[in-house]
Amino acid sequence: MQNNTISTLFIGQNFIKLSSVDSTNNFLKQCLANSEPLTEGTVIMADEQFAGRGQLNSKWLSETGKNLTFSLYLNPHFLPAMHQFYLNIAISNGINRALRDAFGINASIKWPNDIYYENKKIGGVLIENILSGHHIKHSIIGIGLNINQSIFQEELKTKASSLQLILQQRVNILQVLNEICKHIEVEYLKLRSNKLELLTTDYLAHLFRYKLSSLFRINGEEKLGTIVGINEQGNLMLNLDDKISVFGFKELEFIID
Ligand code: BTN
Repeated sequence: MQNNTISTLFIGQNFIKLSSVDSTNNFLKQCLANSEPLTEGTVIMADEQFAGRGQLNSKWLSETGKNLTFSLYLNPHFLPAMHQFYLNIAISNGINRALRDAFGINASIKWPNDIYYENKKIGGVLIENILSGHHIKHSIIGIGLNINQSIFQEELKTKASSLQLILQQRVNILQVLNEICKHIEVEYLKLRSNKLELLTTDYLAHLFRYKLSSLFRINGEEKLGTIVGINEQGNLMLNLDDKISVFGFKELEFIID
């Protein structure tokens, strides 16, 4: 389906809306496996995902028709595999910018790429890259953002929020999609022109608890540390007991009250 409501050059210009699918990321993967021609910037959105996937093999639960669940197909051939975290940065920056500029929401990015408002998660990103040699061949970028859901299951009640809860009004889901596509396009074009420092500066400017003393669980122990940066591979740099330590995604957990 061609789309005229997304005001971008290429992101979302090929727009497919499904009423129900296991996962929009799986759908895109299947298209690639079947060698279906896909133009860069294709967006697959679904009203319902019955097997939505999150980071670290978690489930992504989202009430049917209330939230934004979509996947974006990109071909960042220019990006060396060792720099793939810059794609996460560009995507997080784009979502964060859209929420700030179009909706006035003071959002932040919780490392590596969760979208937070105050101490609650409002969105998440699952990027699945297919590599060819030392470069990225295809990238499937799954984005879930809570829009009009106001009731969350027990275990998420204190941890999750949505745009409707923040703004105290219903929000048009397609308008959010349009804003996110616009801002992701801007950030992706910065990535294409190798503006890595600029992307990192913007990312750090909105990084959740950057330079603030915070509690982490590391190897089963609770420790106080301060985020001081990220390295080129996207690992988190923490000041722990006046020493800088570097952590990968699975190596620590934020403790948020
Ligand atoms: C996370 O924070 O754990 C990442 C969540 C990513 C969810 C989105 S919803 C659209 C796309 N399809 C999926 O199955 N997952 C991503």
